[in-house]
Amino acid sequence: MIEKIKLQLKSEIELKLDVTDVIVETPKKGGADLAMPLFAMAKQLRKSPMDIFNTIKADILSHSEVEDVVFLNGFLNITLKRGKVAKDILNTIYLEEENYGQLPNNNKVVCIDYSSPNIAKSFSVGHLRSTVIGNSLRRIYEKRGYKVFGINHLGDWGTQFGKMIVAYQKWGNKEDIEKDPIDELQKLYVRFHEEEANDPTLEQQGRDAFKKLEDNDPEYIELWRWFREESLKEFMTMYDILNVTFDSYNGEAFYNDKMDRIVEMLENKNLLKVDEGATIVELENMTPALIKRSDGATLYMTRDLAALIYRYENYHFDKMLYVVGNEQRLHFEQLKAITNLMGYNFDIEHVNFGLILLDGKKMSTRGGKTKKLDAVIAQAVEFAKAAILEKNPNLNNQDEVAKAVGVGAIIFNDLKNERHLDVDFNLENMIKFEGQTGPYVQYSSVRIASILKNQTIDLNLVDESFYKLDHYFDIVMLLSQFPQIVDRAIEQNAPSTIARYLLQLSQAFNSFYGKQKVIVEDKGHLNANLLFVKAIRTVINEGLRLIGMTALDEM
Ligand code: ARG
Repeated sequence: MIEKIKLQLKSEIELKLDVTDVIVETPKKGGADLAMPLFAMAKQLRKSPMDIFNTIKADILSHSEVEDVVFLNGFLNITLKRGKVAKDILNTIYLEEENYGQLPNNNKVVCIDYSSPNIAKSFSVGHLRSTVIGNSLRRIYEKRGYKVFGINHLGDWGTQFGKMIVAYQKWGNKEDIEKDPIDELQKLYVRFHEEEANDPTLEQQGRDAFKKLEDNDPEYIELWRWFREESLKEFMTMYDILNVTFDSYNGEAFYNDKMDRIVEMLENKNLLKVDEGATIVELENMTPALIKRSDGATLYMTRDLAALIYRYENYHFDKMLYVVGNEQRLHFEQLKAITNLMGYNFDIEHVNFGLILLDGKKMSTRGGKTKKLDAVIAQAVEFAKAAILEKNPNLNNQDEVAKAVGVGAIIFNDLKNERHLDVDFNLENMIKFEGQTGPYVQYSSVRIASILKNQTIDLNLVDESFYKLDHYFDIVMLLSQFPQIVDRAIEQNAPSTIARYLLQLSQAFNSFYGKQKVIVEDKGHLNANLLFVKAIRTVINEGLRLIGMTALDEM
């Protein structure tokens, strides 16, 4: 709405003055609802700012949403018909509810490769970050009309599976693996490396086993399929808790029979070189990329190339996002460089992110000493439950609420800062109900829900004149920015844009509520208030959904 007014003013003035870069902005600090800086235009047109002001004043004033225009310090300052503008915006949100800001299908496809853990290894905190960021991006893109394909590119192929099979055949036991698949498989893998010190032939046995796997040996494939299934079962419980879904679980193994063609394509373009027996692609200003090892085995890169081209040919993506940690930067630069050499010009982006730090040190869920990730999440839920019971001992469905708050706290803590930065993981801090936390945002929405309880809104009774007051109007302006906030999140592939906005909106509401009574006698004022706070709740809840959290009615 505000955006529409800005664009209208901009194009009208540009037409009238025959210039191209008129700026209509929302000033940071009060004084005006909209402002137009005139200096640059004045220079361009060789006129004084005052002259320009006088030329366009009447045109701007003729707008049905404009109340007044004044000249101040080289700016044209606009006051809007605040009551009318605000009521239009709030009515729109009231009618559209969670669809506020939703754009229709734009016929663009985005593939998002996220989570992508490795089979038979524990789900690491890095995979947690990828899952949370990718899931949010998926919802954000869908909100603005994109068709999204969510892909879990499982790490289910590679020489380590040869080793795992050898280890299982030597020391493994079916029942143990069924009981605790990932832990047991990981133990076997660790044992394999320990025993290598005594038995130098193990390395070769592992390679041979992987070769058999690549050649589709039925017994080996059967074992591999079992490892994969058991691991996936564990991952699925994690996705259930986080409420995350995918359209495809085609991991690296899926590309086993699709790599020859890629190697051939590279060959035909004369891009392959043999270097000490290995097949590589040389790249400008970059380490060469390894396509085949000297024994002919394919690599992570080979599978990513096959996957990329498969996705292009089958999903016809306009954009391909890889949500993977900072440490794989070179890999994705190489991937892009190779496809450019092949003559593609894919819009691919490595949506990178930093580490999770525990007491300032890199947090790891691998190995025996640190906790498993599901235990960490369970602990967050427990903390949340304790916090909730202290505040609201009679709450219904406590477990459900505790889960939404505990899991939400982890998600919000991850997404509130720019993703390339490291994240501090401190359960106690992230579950606080004040400060920059997920529970704080959820709680703000719950406060509004309790205000609205047993109230009905009558749109005909709304007295819009109250919206002229700054403490109302500033928040209405914030609400009107929501669709553009989502666009900004898309431009930068940054869910943090939404998280920061949610904090801003929650803080604005809480400070409003600190000074303004909502349930008042006067019917016009009451309905104005109800419509206003309901719109805030609608936008907070939709924002929470976009970052992958659950909004609550009570907590
Ligand atoms: N499985 C990989 C890892 O854990 C991440 C895969 C990311 N996606 C991709 N297409 N390379 O490091």
